[in-house]
Amino acid sequence: MYIRHSQEQEALQTPTMLHFHHHPPSPHRTPETGGAVIHWAQVYDALFDRILQPSEASIHALAQVKPGDQVLDVGCGPGRLTLAAQRWVGPTGEAQGIDPSPEMIATARRNAAQAGLAVKFQVSRVEGLPFPDATFDVVVSRLVMHHLSGDLKQRGLAEMRRVLKPGGVCLAVDFEPPTAPFLRLAVWHFLSPGMTKIDVRDYVPLLTEAGFAEVETGPTGSKFLSFVRGRSPEISNLLINKENTQ
Ligand SMILES: C[S@@+](CC[C@H](N)C(=O)[O-])C[C@H]1O[C@@H](n2cnc3c(N)ncnc32)[C@H](O)[C@@H]1O
Repeated sequence: MYIRHSQEQEALQTPTMLHFHHHPPSPHRTPETGGAVIHWAQVYDALFDRILQPSEASIHALAQVKPGDQVLDVGCGPGRLTLAAQRWVGPTGEAQGIDPSPEMIATARRNAAQAGLAVKFQVSRVEGLPFPDATFDVVVSRLVMHHLSGDLKQRGLAEMRRVLKPGGVCLAVDFEPPTAPFLRLAVWHFLSPGMTKIDVRDYVPLLTEAGFAEVETGPTGSKFLSFVRGRSPEISNLLINKENTQ
């Protein structure tokens, strides 16, 4: 969700690519990013925790998370979904969250401590995920894609694919604007004009270009949230495709 002015200006900044080998960003400073970063973490958490909670069950099912999985929550905000993911994977799995907002990460760490869950949160950005290739079984991101301007969606998806194990699932859930004129006007006015234009189906070709297989889109169990999902190709499929192109 954009807040109208400052983040839209931030979204106009030139994005810069970070690679896994680069030094990790300071936990106290916002790394340079083409994404629209939210700094009002505690207010965000207070406003949206209850509203977003019901989406967790359908995200769990759509992301096909299993006990023991390694899960990454990209643009985790105050970490509520990351904490839910830690409960899904149980003690043999691990969920981690990244967000470029130091305020969001501080809130997420506080929420984890309150929940008694040892979940790792890092200040980082989708354009340079601080993890080696093929680390995670599942990458989720909720309400983050529309925060990534220009080609950053594409670059972010390439990073998500890089950190997924072969066969791993990438699930992006984003805002589905209401169709009723009055509600659209409310979104335009109170959230951001840009949010009335989001169409999650537009992400399908982006996942396909990023090399995901089995790309699908559809509604989640929650009103105003839709999903797009892709699977990182299995190594055997990659080998077959490589042979076919030789
Ligand atoms: C609407 S919030 C969603 C937070 C959380 N996923 C949730 O469902 O409550 C969008 C989040 O995306 C983060 N964000 C912005 N630019 C980003 C980037 N380049 N990489 C990762 N996250 C980013 C923002 O800081 C913000 O916390």
